[in-house]
Amino acid sequence: MSLKLLNSAYLMNIVACETEDCYSQLIADLKHHSYQYYVLDAPEISDRQYDELFQKLLITEAKHPGWVVKDSPSTRVGDQPLSHFESVTHRVAMYSLDNAFNNEDMSDFYQRIADRFSDDAFVFSAEPKMDGLAINLRYEQGYFVQATTRGDGKVGENVTQNVKTIQSIPLKLQGDHFPDVLEVRGEVFMLKSTFEKLNQQQLDKGEKPFANPRNAAAGTLRQLDSKVVAQRHLSFYVYGWGEVSDNWTLPKKYSDMMHLFEQWTLPINPHASLVEGIEGMSDYYERLLQLRPTLPYEIDGIVYKLNDISLQTQLGFTARAPRWAIARKFPAEEVWTELLDIDVQVGRTGAITPVARLQPVNVGGVMVSNATLHNMDEIQRKDVRIGDTVIVRRAGDVIPEVVGPVLSKRPDNTVLFHMPEHCPECGSEIVKEPDKAVYLCSGGLYCPAQRKRALEHFVSRKAMDIQGLGTRLIDQLVEKELVHHPDDLYRLDTETIAGLERMATKSAQNVVDSIQGSLFTTFGRFIYSLGIPEVGEVTANNLAQHFKTYDALLSASVDEFILVDDVGEVVANHLEHFFQQPHNLEVIQGLFDAGVDWPEPQEIVVQQNSPFMNKVVVITGTLESMGRTDAKNLLEAAGAKVTGSISVKTDFLLAGEKAGSKLTKAESLGITILNEQQWLEMMPEL
Ligand code: IVH
Repeated sequence: MSLKLLNSAYLMNIVACETEDCYSQLIADLKHHSYQYYVLDAPEISDRQYDELFQKLLITEAKHPGWVVKDSPSTRVGDQPLSHFESVTHRVAMYSLDNAFNNEDMSDFYQRIADRFSDDAFVFSAEPKMDGLAINLRYEQGYFVQATTRGDGKVGENVTQNVKTIQSIPLKLQGDHFPDVLEVRGEVFMLKSTFEKLNQQQLDKGEKPFANPRNAAAGTLRQLDSKVVAQRHLSFYVYGWGEVSDNWTLPKKYSDMMHLFEQWTLPINPHASLVEGIEGMSDYYERLLQLRPTLPYEIDGIVYKLNDISLQTQLGFTARAPRWAIARKFPAEEVWTELLDIDVQVGRTGAITPVARLQPVNVGGVMVSNATLHNMDEIQRKDVRIGDTVIVRRAGDVIPEVVGPVLSKRPDNTVLFHMPEHCPECGSEIVKEPDKAVYLCSGGLYCPAQRKRALEHFVSRKAMDIQGLGTRLIDQLVEKELVHHPDDLYRLDTETIAGLERMATKSAQNVVDSIQGSLFTTFGRFIYSLGIPEVGEVTANNLAQHFKTYDALLSASVDEFILVDDVGEVVANHLEHFFQQPHNLEVIQGLFDAGVDWPEPQEIVVQQNSPFMNKVVVITGTLESMGRTDAKNLLEAAGAKVTGSISVKTDFLLAGEKAGSKLTKAESLGITILNEQQWLEMMPEL
C-alpha cells in the first residue's frame, strides 16, 4: 500500500454518520469488503481501514439506535452466553454420505447408476470433502434467521448466535429471485492456520489443545458463549440445500444451483469442478490428492454428486445417504499404531528430540515407522508411554507426529520414558536449558551428529543448494573425518568422494561440480546456511536486506539486530552469540577463502534536501505501515544514519506502538520523538 494512502488513513478522524443514507452506504461498504476478504480472498482495503469503517458503524449505531438494521455487521460480534442449545427438528432430513475407499468401490457406485439409467456418460460435480461439521442455514425473505447442527440428521441444535459470527456467511442474501424460504447446507470448518494459533493460545493459557482442526471447529461451534466463537474465526462453504419454497423452481443442474448461491454471496469451494465419467472422477482424485497438502484447510476426501437434479430425484435416498452421491475417502492422515520404543535424535543445534519407534503403519498413503514426540514436556503433557497404542498423524508434507495415547487401549505393562543422561552419538552430557523444554547435547561441534545435521542444513535447497550430498554421503564424510565443517566441503576432490561407498566417478564429479557451483550465492542464502538457531529463510533474507554487507552484520549489536523485521530479543541474542564464537568466525573465513561470494548490494540513491539528511535516527516499537527494515531503508534513502541504541548523538527517535525503554531513555535525554504519522509527514516524496 502507498504511503500516501496510509497517511490519509492516519489523518482520518472517525466520526459517526449523520444521515441514514450515509449509514446504509456504510453497511454496503462493510459488506462489500467483508465479502472481498472472507469469500473471495481478495481484500481491497487494509485491515486497519476495515476496522475504521467498523468503528464508524459502532459509533453511528450507538448514536442512532433507530437506524440499526437486522443484518448489520455489528451483530456478528457475539451475544449473551446461552445456558443450553435448543433442539430443532429439521424440516428436511440431513443425510450422510456413503463412502468409497478404493477404485472398486467407485466403479460399483458408478455401475449402479449406469444400470439404473442404461447409460454410460454421467456428469458429476466433484468437490473437496471438507473435514468439519455439517450445518443448515435458514434464510427467510433473504435474511439469515437460523442455523442448526446436523445432530442425528432429524433433530439438531440451534447454533444461530454462534454461526452469525462466521464472517463469510451472509446475514442477507444479495441479488434477487431467491426463494422466500431457503435452507442451505454446508460445512463449518477451521483453517489450519487458525487452528495452529488457537492451540498455541490454549497452551499459553494452560488449557488442553485440540487434536485437529475438525475437533477445534466442533468444540467452537458448541460454545455457549458466542463471543468466544467470534474470536475463533470459523469458516464455511456451502454444498447443498434443504427446504426450498414450493413456488420456486429449482434449476436443472446442481452446478447451476451452486452458481445461484455464489451470486447470492454464499461462499462456495473454488475447487469444485464438473467431471465426466469414471475417468473424469479418477483424474480429479489424483489432482486433489496432490493439492491436499497445499490447501489451507483439511479435507478427508472428495464428494461426487450426480449433476442432473432430475436423475438425483429418481435415485432418491437410502435410510442413511443419497444414492446419487459418494464420498471417496483419502487415506487417513491420523491412524492408530503401537509405540514400540522411544529413542532420541540429536539436531543441528544439539537439541535432543525424542523419536517414537512405531509398528509400521500407512498414514495418508505413506508407510511410517518413526514419528516425532517433539520434546520431554510434550511426552509428559500427552502422557505417552512405551507400549501404548498411539494416534499418529501426518498432514501433508509435515513430519509424522504422535498426537497422544489411546487410553482405552493402554496395557498394564507400559514403560515411562526417561531422558538419557548422555548423548547417544558422542557420549557428552545431556543438559536441560533452564526454563525451556529443550534438552541439549553439550558436545557442541565435537558431536558428530551435530556436525552432520549442520552440514545437511548447509547443503539444503534453501541454503547453498548443493545437489547430490545426501544424508548417507554426509554421514560417511563426517565419520571418515574428511569433512568437519562446511568450508571443508570446498576442499573435496572427485577422487576422495569416488572412494566412498556407493559412489562412482561420474556421480562424485557431479557432487564436486555442484559444490563448486554453489560458491556464487546470495547474502541471504549464506546467512541462512550458517544454521544460526531460529534464523529461518525469511529472517536470513531480512538480515541480508537490512545489513547489506557481511561486515555490517558481523559488527551489529543486539540493539541493531532487533531493528530487523522478524527479529525479536531471542533471535537477536542468538545472532550476537553466534558471531562472537571464534570457531564460527573461522568457518566463515574458511568459506570466504574457498571463494564463497555474492553480488554487491545496490547503492542507495540518497534524497537531497530531506529533514533527515545526516541525522542519526533510532527506530523502536511496532510500525503500522511497514516493517522496521523498510522504515530503515526509507530513512537511509532520505540521508539518515539509522542506529540501534539511543545516545546523546541521536537526533530522532521514531517510536511505533508498544515502544519501551528506548522511548523512556530518549525522553530523559530530550531527544525529538516522532510518532509514525509525524515521521511519514516529514518524509520527502519517495
Ligand atoms: S454433500 C446429502 N458435500 O461429509 C448429503 N458433504 O460424510 C450431502 N461434507 O455430513 C452431503 N464436504 O458434513 C457434501 N462437499 C461436500 C462435503 C460434505 C464435507 C461432509 C458433510 C456430510 C459428511 C458425510
